[in-house]
Amino acid sequence: MQNIYAPISVKIAKIEEHSPSVKLFRLKRTDGKKFSAQKNGLIFTPGQFVLAGVWGYGEAPFGPASDPLNRNHIDIVVRKIGQTTSALHHMKEGSKITLRGPYGNGYPIENFLGKDIIMITGGCGLPPIAALIEYIINNRAKFGIVHLLYGASTPPDLLMKNRMKFWQKNIQIMLTVDKPICNWEGRTGLISECLLELKINPANTMVAMCGPGPMVNALEHLLNPMGISDKRIFISMERKMQCGVGRCQHCVTGNKYVCADGPVFNLDEIDKNWD
Ligand SMILES: Cc1cc2nc3c(=O)[nH]c(=O)nc-3n(C[C@H](O)[C@H](O)[C@H](O)COP(=O)(O)OP(=O)(O)OC[C@H]3O[C@@H](n4cnc5c(N)ncnc54)[C@H](O)[C@@H]3O)c2cc1C
Ligand code: FES
Repeated sequence: MQNIYAPISVKIAKIEEHSPSVKLFRLKRTDGKKFSAQKNGLIFTPGQFVLAGVWGYGEAPFGPASDPLNRNHIDIVVRKIGQTTSALHHMKEGSKITLRGPYGNGYPIENFLGKDIIMITGGCGLPPIAALIEYIINNRAKFGIVHLLYGASTPPDLLMKNRMKFWQKNIQIMLTVDKPICNWEGRTGLISECLLELKINPANTMVAMCGPGPMVNALEHLLNPMGISDKRIFISMERKMQCGVGRCQHCVTGNKYVCADGPVFNLDEIDKNWD
């Protein structure tokens, strides 16, 4: 019988420092094989999560940030916050960790085809949105106008800056920071101010969000008056997780398991289940 908790062994092929507390880890299988594709041809659907494990410390969920069509590696972008993430931050290129998943549902890409897309994220909510951006750019003709609105506390906290330069050639990007230190010449202010500047066709627009709860709550109240109904808004939720597969009840919110029913929820669905 298949063990649903059995991880694979992966090695850290590359580490990039993205901010004082955030690093990107490029993971490759230690057996030299490529990652397996799912039925939809992707190794994970943008918005799904993997559980990365460090021997002696534990496992933690991360939304992969890389191109879901690239079977050679998976990138995770990790903020150092506690036990497992600190252990990861101490690891070197070549170190081995474990990986299981992908788990959860991901963004409903099929509903996004042919539509204008607004992706909104803040802080360390960028990784799952990054994978969605990579997917959209790989299939650019299948989507309409695509916006990314991304905010961070300070300019050094903006993640994936190199990738951002490539994305800017393919989609419309607005970056904003709370505190304009380090000679920042870009925007200062709330992500909601960026949203209000967009000229959109609400009937043809889908929204994907991932970020801190207060940001999501504030934006929810702006999107409806812009003509975008809850049914067109998808958010990725974060909860503490353990099993990752709907068995342990660690991630319950309302009557939903964030790991198995989410982590991506339609706003219409989550409003009735938020705890
Ligand atoms: C679906 C999903 C995707 C995620 N993707 C990313 C990602 O791409 N990059 C990233 O950096 N982080 C991501 N996270 C958050 C990440 O999983 C946690 O930061 C991590 O589990 C912390 O583990 P730790 O052992 O270092 O912290 P711990 O030692 O377990 O905890 C340290 C502190 O953080 C709190 N905490 C831990 N996990 C969470 C959580 N999920 N939500 C709220 N508070 C928490 C604890 O209560 C404690 O106060 C994601 C979480 C989920 C559920
Ligand atoms: S993490 Fe165990 S039920 Fe969701």
